[in-house]
Amino acid sequence: MLTITPSGQTLGARVTGINLAEPVPDADFRTLLRALGQHGVLCFPNQNMTPPQQRDFCQRLGRIQFSLTGRFQSAEAPEVGILSNIIEDGQPIGLADAGQDWHTDMSYTQVKGFANALLALRVPRRNGRVLGGTCFGNMFAAYEGLDPALRERLRDATAVHDFNKFWDAMLAKGSGRGALTEAQKAQRPPATHPICPVHPITGRRSLYCNPGYATHIVGMDRAESDRIMAHLFEHQLKPEYLWTHEWTEGDFLLWDNLGTVHTALADYTADEHRLMKRCQIMADKVFDPSWQQTWLAA
Ligand code: SIN
Repeated sequence: MLTITPSGQTLGARVTGINLAEPVPDADFRTLLRALGQHGVLCFPNQNMTPPQQRDFCQRLGRIQFSLTGRFQSAEAPEVGILSNIIEDGQPIGLADAGQDWHTDMSYTQVKGFANALLALRVPRRNGRVLGGTCFGNMFAAYEGLDPALRERLRDATAVHDFNKFWDAMLAKGSGRGALTEAQKAQRPPATHPICPVHPITGRRSLYCNPGYATHIVGMDRAESDRIMAHLFEHQLKPEYLWTHEWTEGDFLLWDNLGTVHTALADYTADEHRLMKRCQIMADKVFDPSWQQTWLAA
């Protein structure tokens, strides 16, 4: 039986009694969507999925974004990317430093990102301690915790999100991911989104402005925009909004990008191996009224 056990903290729930390698019954799919909105991050332990099975489950939530560079895609299903620090025959098998700073995935696209899904195949450990966790921030709580006057001021404000901001920051930190070509940059032009949008599942407003991609507030003096964004970035990472997932092999983690920010913790070395398979799911379906009527209506 499908069972959802909340972490009891600001985010996170554990979902058991379901095999995601098989088609998920409609009633369970509805329950999972509600739980995703409510808890932000769902961990399904002991999952054993091939890349095509991971893709098939994720595709039900929305279109999957392919890697921009075309590198590190699973051979059986290119929609499923490989994140890893493992080197085989002198070659990296995955993107080694994906997500290693605070961000919200696909806030830089015109159609925002809805969810990410990671299947853990190898998890680094040292002296029995799990490394390479993923830390999340609850952006409903962060929105509600803003000073009411600032919340009012930002209610109809929009911010620009730029894919290059995160990529360039990683290069500046010494990432081996390589510079983007002009053609690749042209495929990911900046996008503009409300800072306090209403969430399609919960109906609550969240703080949608992340340090990885957001560059400035539209129509505001740049110094004032920088000041407010610096405040938002500090505010959204207050300890009371944060929760970390510590991985076990076989965990399938599904998180809601519309209500959270996250960072992958880079606390392991090149000899401590981490291997994840990732799908990045767009918010095309979740904002579609007829899809909402089918899957979200009570
Ligand atoms: C990501 O940001 O999508 C990757 C997170 C992780 O590897 O923990």
